[in-house]
Amino acid sequence: MPTLQGIKPERQIILWIVANAGGIGKTTLGLHLGYRMAQLGLKVAMIDLDTNGSAARFCGLDSNKSPEQTSAALFDRNFGGQYPFQVPEWGHPNGSFEVCVGGDVMLSVSLDLPSRTGREFVLKRAFKKYPLDHDILILDSPASLDVLSYSALAVATHILMPIPMSVKLTGIDSLLQWIRIEAESLDLDPIPELLGGIPMRVANNADQKAFYSEISAVLEEQNIHCFSGIRYSSEFENASNRGRAPLFIHRPGHAACKDFDPIVQALCDAIQIPDAGKI
Ligand SMILES: Nc1ncnc2c1ncn2[C@@H]1O[C@H](COP(=O)(O)OP(=O)(O)OP(=O)(O)O)[C@@H](O)[C@H]1O
Ligand SMILES: [Mg+2]
Repeated sequence: MPTLQGIKPERQIILWIVANAGGIGKTTLGLHLGYRMAQLGLKVAMIDLDTNGSAARFCGLDSNKSPEQTSAALFDRNFGGQYPFQVPEWGHPNGSFEVCVGGDVMLSVSLDLPSRTGREFVLKRAFKKYPLDHDILILDSPASLDVLSYSALAVATHILMPIPMSVKLTGIDSLLQWIRIEAESLDLDPIPELLGGIPMRVANNADQKAFYSEISAVLEEQNIHCFSGIRYSSEFENASNRGRAPLFIHRPGHAACKDFDPIVQALCDAIQIPDAGKI
């Protein structure tokens, strides 16, 4: 495993993983990318904005926490910079990987946020006032585009779009349109860079290959990169059910581990690691 020991990236990126579909592997993708980046020696944090508490569960942590111990803290009117990061049950890889868990309490955040002045920028203001020194922050969000999605959009520098292999292709267009329209109405400058779409849970059969080609054509029509995708394997589910989500820990030799490599490479390029091409 190559590492980036002693190499400091030139910038921090805030990566938002967004899809308008549930149960397709958003959290799994975020955890795997984060873990892999940390294995390379980088400092990574994942911030879960979802009520379902998956990030905590997949990390072997309890999501049933009081608000100040979760991502809800970052939205508190009295937030003073105490980010409630936790280390997953498996410990840090080579660099560090921390998680700020979501869970039920995120529902109260969604209910409170609409009444706040500059509500879309509450998270952005927290990061600005209390800067984090992580190389990469990964924002995981729910399946629906809600008030917290605006917070993620407003603060993200980069976006990845996991795509289910059963989606109506119009779903991709409507998500892209939502991102464009809302980024413009929030007057984001620069607007987050869309690194690409990632077909998720890709089975090895002719139907899926044909569907992959259709997805890739829809994306490329709009000049958006289509990654080669993450294959389907029941081992992902076994790993997450055991609270040891990264396949890199659960089954390090599994062929699906390699599926993340092109995306990791794109992230290394995005954080401007010198000589990232050699990783
Ligand atoms: N490539 C894959 N192959 C098979 N199962 C997978 C794969 N990726 C994720 N899974 C499993 O699918 C389930 C849903 O994954 P995950 O929670 O990451 O999706 P999600 O999009 O974040 O869901 P939600 O919308 O509920 O937040 C989990 O049990 C996970 O282990
Ligand atoms: Mg999720």
